[in-house]
Amino acid sequence: MSNDVKNATTANILVVDDTAANLHLLVKLLTNRGYKVRPVPNGHLALSGARGLPPDLILLDIMMPEMDGYEVCRKLKANPDTRDIPIIFISAIHEVIDKVKAFSLGGVDYITKPFEAKEVLARVETHLALRNMQKKLQEKNELLEKTLQDLKTTQSQLIEAEKMASLGSLVAGVAHEINTPVGNGLIAASTLANETKFFAADFEVGKLKRSSLKAYLDKAGHCSELILRNLHRAGELVVSFKQVAVDQSSLEKRVFQVKEYLEKTILSLEPQLKQTEHSLTVGGDETLMMDSYPGALSQVATNLVMNSIAHAYPSGGGGHLQFRVSRQSDRATIEYNDDGCGIPEKNLGKIFDPFFTTARSQGGSGLGLHIVYNLVSQKLQGQIRCESEVGLGTKFILDLPISISSGGAR
Ligand SMILES: Nc1ncnc2c1ncn2[C@@H]1O[C@H](COP(=O)(O)OP(=O)(O)OP(=O)(O)O)[C@@H](O)[C@H]1O
Ligand SMILES: [Mg+2]
Repeated sequence: MSNDVKNATTANILVVDDTAANLHLLVKLLTNRGYKVRPVPNGHLALSGARGLPPDLILLDIMMPEMDGYEVCRKLKANPDTRDIPIIFISAIHEVIDKVKAFSLGGVDYITKPFEAKEVLARVETHLALRNMQKKLQEKNELLEKTLQDLKTTQSQLIEAEKMASLGSLVAGVAHEINTPVGNGLIAASTLANETKFFAADFEVGKLKRSSLKAYLDKAGHCSELILRNLHRAGELVVSFKQVAVDQSSLEKRVFQVKEYLEKTILSLEPQLKQTEHSLTVGGDETLMMDSYPGALSQVATNLVMNSIAHAYPSGGGGHLQFRVSRQSDRATIEYNDDGCGIPEKNLGKIFDPFFTTARSQGGSGLGLHIVYNLVSQKLQGQIRCESEVGLGTKFILDLPISISSGGAR
């Protein structure tokens, strides 16, 4: 408050009165108190003065020729530059002041002539302090609004970054997975090429026996079959990765088969899973279709599985990770659970909060589940909750509409 009073005493006050004696009296009273005072004798000068350099407070006589105080007040309130300046009306004791009108026009108070010095100073001080506080509140509000806007921008940037990061690991997954069938195919092809070379050499020198022809044909058949099977597998992988990658990068809405889609997503996690002893299965309704955002679902599933790998089995060992898909009329339920260490009750309420992590030292940012929560509630227009018991495991239950309107999603 002492700060407010200090600011208030350096305040700039506009005093409007057509009676010179009153004007003089008020200027003296307020100047003695340390205020900067600008006296003006009529409404027109009051308006131009207030617009030119908006004061912190206006003392405004009501009864003035040409333009009365009410009119000046109305005009000041209509101008965005001057509408927040507090106005204290001045009226003579014998005048019948229309108090309702004075307040409804935006006046904050009124004082009567002849002036009681103490009263005038007390009212001026009070309204200057109030105005000061209001200004500070306004500034705080603007700051808060800006912070909120910044937060929203950061959040969508984070979601974008997460999308890119999961695309990156998807690409790594593709390379890793395709390496195996392509490698197998290469071995089979070079074996075939070698055998053919020997076979051709025997043929050239006329040493070809019936038994070696038979052996060559067996090997050639076997190698061709291996090449075909592995190329076919590589082709399959490319198709399913392509689908998941396109969905993750574009986040387009389309109709998809939920169980099959989760299986495709899991393929991209094979490299990480292979480094563990965990098993990951997808069960439930084979026929369940959704018209929604498969890319978002795949990001959610990826995060849940990665969390089990990262947090659920601190002392190693093979866990059972499982997705189950089911349908209740127009809703899809996707349950995911692990049989790991579980989440202590005191943390359970915080896991979806941004930056909550128990793995900061291992590089956890605590954003995974926050992003999951946003994807489920905004993009997929559903709900997610978590049930967990220490020592038994953790379960996430997603309740999603089977068909969503494209309009509502971000
Ligand atoms: N399956 C789980 N089992 C045990 N604890 C879990 C499991 N999933 C999440 N948690 C807990 O919830 C916390 C928050 O998870 P979240 O995915 O938001 O962050 P993070 O995995 O720590 O970091 P980030 O995902 O940003 O790298 C984790 O730090 C962990 O304590
Ligand atoms: Mg995580």
